[in-house]
Amino acid sequence: MWTFVSPRFIVYGDDALSFLEGERASRVLIVADESITKLGFVDMVKSYLKAEKIEVFSDVEPEPSIETALKCTKVARDLQPQLIVAIGGGSVMDVAKAARVLMEVDIDPIAITPFTDLFELGYTKKAKLIAVPTTSGTGADVTWTSVLTDKAEHRKLTPANKEIVPDVTILDYRVVATMPKRLIAGSGLDALTHAVEGIVSVWRNEFSDALCEKAIEIIMNNLERSYMGDAEARAKMHIAATMAGLGFGNSQVGLVHSLGHTFGAIFKQHHGLCVGLFLPYVMQFYLKSDAKTRMDALARKLGLRDAERFIDKIFELMKKVELPTKLSEVISRESFEKSLESLVMNTLNDSSLGMSPRIPDYDQTKRIYECAFEGRRIDF
Ligand SMILES: [Fe+2]
Repeated sequence: MWTFVSPRFIVYGDDALSFLEGERASRVLIVADESITKLGFVDMVKSYLKAEKIEVFSDVEPEPSIETALKCTKVARDLQPQLIVAIGGGSVMDVAKAARVLMEVDIDPIAITPFTDLFELGYTKKAKLIAVPTTSGTGADVTWTSVLTDKAEHRKLTPANKEIVPDVTILDYRVVATMPKRLIAGSGLDALTHAVEGIVSVWRNEFSDALCEKAIEIIMNNLERSYMGDAEARAKMHIAATMAGLGFGNSQVGLVHSLGHTFGAIFKQHHGLCVGLFLPYVMQFYLKSDAKTRMDALARKLGLRDAERFIDKIFELMKKVELPTKLSEVISRESFEKSLESLVMNTLNDSSLGMSPRIPDYDQTKRIYECAFEGRRIDF
């Protein structure tokens, strides 16, 4: 048996936030971060709410820790909101997704798995969760996981359960109108990676394929224009990121994310930039697997001859949006060589690896890193 997981509503448009006017909650918790608050988006959300009491938790840091999720949980427990609005990037949504469950269920976040019966543990879904993504990439507004960091153990924890998914996602084009260019490029490549990984994953299915395919088409045709300031393309990218989120959320990401997570954690680089860097190299690695047929079919749908041409197109797109196409543009050879062993070992231990259509061994992983560092084509 399979279950397709998604929010109840996806509201989108130039004034999508006005959906909040219909909310009847008297106590609302808004989860955000400092920059979102400074940009005035928290006030924008408040202006649509009729609640008697609104509290704002804006202490979310990038790569949020378990402690942050627990701090937010404490605020939620004290307030007992009927509605939580998470406005921000993936980090903000991840914290809100965890806090919504933890405010009712006293459980170690690590113990929340896809098999946990939260209702048996006392969960009643007391608070509705509305996600308002302010970047176009993470898909966290529609996925059923929350990525938290255990700072003491230097590891990522991923509570996952279909009850974690937000009830509503609001894609309001105004909040992405002023997104910095670097973020447009990085988050756009993250969305593209989600869609490509979702389509080659061993857990792919007809629903995820349909969403990933359409997302790839939109991203390939609109990312550069969005980067150059085209408002219509920017709106399309916002929709495509959520579409890719629904796709990979119901399939899985794989090797690209294992490499990207690892590289990002060691060299403190933006998630989208990291996964984008590895995407074309991993696709080259997949040319010698069953995934080649799927990538060829995908290429033809885009009007390209085959997967190789599609990979070239991705490299071209990365250059157009001024992203690096090899690791040596980001780090020095010395620091690369010093970290290579950890990079390889952490990649092989990453939880996303298992759903990849071709899993590299130790030597292959090392060679993938070397090729990606030098910008050399992978032909093994
Ligand atoms: Fe990602």
